[in-house]
Amino acid sequence: MTWGRFYGVGVGPGDPQLLTLKAVEVLRKTDVIAIPKSKLERESVAWEIAKGHCRPDVGQIEIELPMTSEREVLEQAWESGAERIRRLLADGQTVAFITLGDPSLYSTYTYLLDKLKGKIPEERIETVPGIMALAAAAARVNLPLAEGDEPLLILPSGEGIEDYLGFPNLVLMKVSRRLPEILARLKDKDRAAVLLSRVGHDTERIEWNPEAQRPDGKIDYLSLLIVKGAVGRAEEEN
Ligand SMILES: C[S@@+](CC[C@H](N)C(=O)[O-])C[C@H]1O[C@@H](n2cnc3c(N)ncnc32)[C@H](O)[C@@H]1O
Repeated sequence: MTWGRFYGVGVGPGDPQLLTLKAVEVLRKTDVIAIPKSKLERESVAWEIAKGHCRPDVGQIEIELPMTSEREVLEQAWESGAERIRRLLADGQTVAFITLGDPSLYSTYTYLLDKLKGKIPEERIETVPGIMALAAAAARVNLPLAEGDEPLLILPSGEGIEDYLGFPNLVLMKVSRRLPEILARLKDKDRAAVLLSRVGHDTERIEWNPEAQRPDGKIDYLSLLIVKGAVGRAEEEN
């Protein structure tokens, strides 16, 4: 039996030009695309980015991501996704799991991989790095993430991050659920921030020194904060 190849492909943050040449090559030759999809999404964002590079007749399977933090439910979803992929690989097909940004950062890919390892030969697995949203965001506003010997801290915006908000160079991801609270805490610490939503998409938004009081209320899930220096030092963009 000849196993197919399994790729985890980072498709970048949204700009159709921010896929690597390698990602494009893999997408072109793949038999089946495994698409992560939450119940809330009409169409997967990763698929929107990748589809123009795939063969018109490419097979598709959706790997459903339950909207829960219940470990057991998540484990089951990853296990059943991995099993569907394993069967295709056993059949000799090439499968690419696509993921936003880079596969190594907060991606379902790593959980799936965990379930697949030991069930398929390691040499049939290849992870194709992608441009992380935080790199695209920093480039978009022409800011360095860190310079010289400075450290850089990347944080998901869950509970208990308050102690880290004084860190010199900070990127806060998944900010949508707690944005007003985080912005208020940053203000207490006299920190300047820029909020970037949907970088590289048609609906991109950039807000310098965002206010904690938000009249619009809703924050896009694809949003992150770059925090640098003190208030007043972040440039105002027209
Ligand atoms: C599950 S993580 C995926 C990160 C991704 N693997 C990466 O390398 O960038 C999702 C978070 O990434 C950030 N993100 C992804 N795409 C983005 C974009 N186009 N603009 C702004 N933030 C984005 C947001 O903070 C979002 O909540």
